[in-house]
Amino acid sequence: MMSITLRKLTKQFGETTIIPSLDLEIGSGEFISLLGPSGCGKTTLIRMIAGLEHPSSGMIALEDEVVFQDEPPRYLPPEKRNIGMVFQNYALWPHLSIGENISFPLECRKISRSEITDRTRQILDQVQLQGLEARRPHELSGGQQQRAALARALIARPKVVLLDEPLSNLDTHLREEMCDLISEIKKANPITMIYVTHDQKEAYRLSDRIAVIHQGKIEQLGTWQELTQNPRTNFVKSFIRM
Ligand SMILES: Nc1ncnc2c1ncn2[C@@H]1O[C@H](COP(=O)(O)OP(=O)(O)OP(=O)(O)O)[C@@H](O)[C@H]1O
Ligand SMILES: [Mg+2]
Repeated sequence: MMSITLRKLTKQFGETTIIPSLDLEIGSGEFISLLGPSGCGKTTLIRMIAGLEHPSSGMIALEDEVVFQDEPPRYLPPEKRNIGMVFQNYALWPHLSIGENISFPLECRKISRSEITDRTRQILDQVQLQGLEARRPHELSGGQQQRAALARALIARPKVVLLDEPLSNLDTHLREEMCDLISEIKKANPITMIYVTHDQKEAYRLSDRIAVIHQGKIEQLGTWQELTQNPRTNFVKSFIRM
C-alpha cells in the first residue's frame, strides 16, 4: 500500500492549460474516484501519476519517494513506479493470447516460469477467465477483455492501481458484476486505487472519497455523503444528483 501526494501539479499541452495547479493527498489503501465530465483532465492526471505523461511542473510522490518534480528535476519511469493501470480502451495486445497479455508484466521481471504460470492461473480464477487464456483479445467479449485488462494490472501485485473508466463500454448488468469484482479486489488486496469515471453511481459504490473535477481543478473532495449533503459549488451540486 502506498500513499500518493500531488503538489501544485500542472499540465499544459502547447498553449492550453489542462491542469492549472492541483493538490491532492491520497491515503495508503484508500479508494479515490475522480469524477468529472469528458475532457476535464482525468486521464491526463492519472497518466502523470503512472509516469506516462510528463507534468509541466509540480511534484508527485508515492509514499516517501518523489517520482516527479521540476526543481531539481526528477522523473522516475513508469516501470519503476510499481503501478498497475487499466486503460480507458483496455489496450490489450492483439497479437498475444489472453494468458500472454496477463502474464506480460511478470515476464519483464526476474520471476521463474513456474511462478509465472501459478500466478497467471490464480489471477485468471480471480477475474473468472479460466479456460480462456489461449484466446486472442478479439475472441473475447468486451466484458471479458475488460477483466483481462484488470488481471494484467493486478498480476505484479502493485501497491497502486489506476483504473481509467474501466466499465464505460459495458452494459448495465456487466457493469454491476465488474463493480462487485473491483469491490472484492479492494477488500482482498492492500492496494491504493484511483478510479476514473463520469458515472456517479460507480463512484458512490466503490469509493472511500470522491474528487469532483472540473476543468482540471478539484471542485470538491469528500465522501459521497459530504458531496451530496454539502456541495460547495454549483458545479458539484449540478453534477452530483441523487
Ligand atoms: N496529447 C495531447 N495533446 C493535446 N491535448 C490533449 C492531449 N491529451 C489530452 N488533451 C486534451 O486535454 C484535455 C483533457 O483530456 P483528458 O483525456 O485528460 O480528459 P478526460 O477527463 O479523461 O476525458 P474523458 O472522460 O472523455 O476520457 C482535453 O481537452 C484533451 O483534448
Ligand atoms: Mg479519459
